[in-house]
Amino acid sequence: MPYSKVTEELIQKLKEIIGEGNVSTGGEEKVRLACDEMPNPKPHPPEVIVKPENAVSIAKVLRLANEKRIPVTPRGAGTGLCGGCVSIKGGILLSLERMNRILEIDEENFVTVVEPGVVLADLFKAVEEHGLYYPLYPGEKAATIGGNIATNAGGMRAVKYGVTRNFVLGLEAVVPTGEIIQTGGKFVKCSTGYDLTQLIIGSEGTLAVVTKIILKLSTAPKRREVLFIPFSNLGDAIRTVPDILRHKILPVGIEFMERDVIEIVERYMDMSIPYHEHEAFLMIILEGETEAEIYQVSKQVEGICQKHGAIDTFVPASEKAKRQLIEAREKFYPALKSFGPTDIVDVVVPRSKIAEFIERVKVISQKQKMPVVAYGHAGDGNVHLHPVGKDMDKDEWEAKLPEVLKDIYQVGASLGGMISGEHGLGFVKKNYLPIAMDQNLIELMKRMKKAFDPNNIMNPGKVFDLGYE
Ligand code: LAC
Ligand code: ZN
Repeated sequence: MPYSKVTEELIQKLKEIIGEGNVSTGGEEKVRLACDEMPNPKPHPPEVIVKPENAVSIAKVLRLANEKRIPVTPRGAGTGLCGGCVSIKGGILLSLERMNRILEIDEENFVTVVEPGVVLADLFKAVEEHGLYYPLYPGEKAATIGGNIATNAGGMRAVKYGVTRNFVLGLEAVVPTGEIIQTGGKFVKCSTGYDLTQLIIGSEGTLAVVTKIILKLSTAPKRREVLFIPFSNLGDAIRTVPDILRHKILPVGIEFMERDVIEIVERYMDMSIPYHEHEAFLMIILEGETEAEIYQVSKQVEGICQKHGAIDTFVPASEKAKRQLIEAREKFYPALKSFGPTDIVDVVVPRSKIAEFIERVKVISQKQKMPVVAYGHAGDGNVHLHPVGKDMDKDEWEAKLPEVLKDIYQVGASLGGMISGEHGLGFVKKNYLPIAMDQNLIELMKRMKKAFDPNNIMNPGKVFDLGYE
């Protein structure tokens, strides 16, 4: 049965459920919500936008959509990078922006209970006021926690803290057939049945709409230091990483970057980065309780880097300089996006394979005559690659890009990696999934999807196609 179109009658029913002012079918918003932040987006406007305020009304919307077979796409702040929150099949766009309440901060259990539309900046601030800390920071403060859950976002602090799924203890969610489910709870251990919390995390809104989240918190570190370490080549920089970790040093983040991206971000931010003339860099972020502890670890890291050919170690002299350096790193993606046609890869490989992966990507880049800029989360094996189409005409770029991406994913898979380490597949990367994942596993995931969503109304066309979108 094909999807139904959104009719006047349906819009009327949605207004009855959600309230007239929270249902819209046009205007500026329809244009704004037709894209996310992926490079070169093609707009996919929804037929109708609804902004519910609670799980009960979402359940009613989903029941209605399920009965009529209308696609429903959940959306947070739209900061995703692969079209996950875009209504590619039309239908209802379910914006969670009004569900932005922090419901509870439980200091005894070190947890907070929040709604999915809470933006990270607000979450950080609210828990800090209670002397607590939510350590994950995927790099975009305007993102919502619901969006982070959809993609299992990672970011620059994953070496020490892990990724979003490591902080989610439980969920309330509405499944496409309209039932409201509760998973997990305010506890840290559980051996009771299947772990549906973890199944829903990273499912990119294809299994359920998350309406409440129980998040684990920690306490904030007292000191933070940033080391910026130039190397004469990327191989040396990357090969330093396992050695640091072998010494039982656990930085918050270990980032790597090439000179090209430093040049691009300097131009974008109109700033100068120390040692920018060198080929490759590590940015190592450390946390500690005392000045002395941080100093001792910094010296140890410096020594290890020198052993691997580091040219020097730059330590910003002030808090402001530290913030600027981290901010420059956070701006790599917007800087590259503004530089010219590009795409973003977030392949993850075993940490020990990063150097080989990038060497092989450079061979692909030369063979295909398409520059590829590399940076990423060296401590997690999560590599960002940007094919750059600045000096190509549109036709050449569009013809070559899928070939380059396919070659890159094949190399990543051959090294034991996966297509996406933190951004998700959305619809732009779904066709590459079979390169890295066994067909039996994909088929099993499809059966699980059908168990949650027999009519395939929840975010259809994302992660994989069932064949009846
Ligand atoms: C970053 C985003 C693009 O690491 O994942 O900058
Ligand atoms: Zn990243």
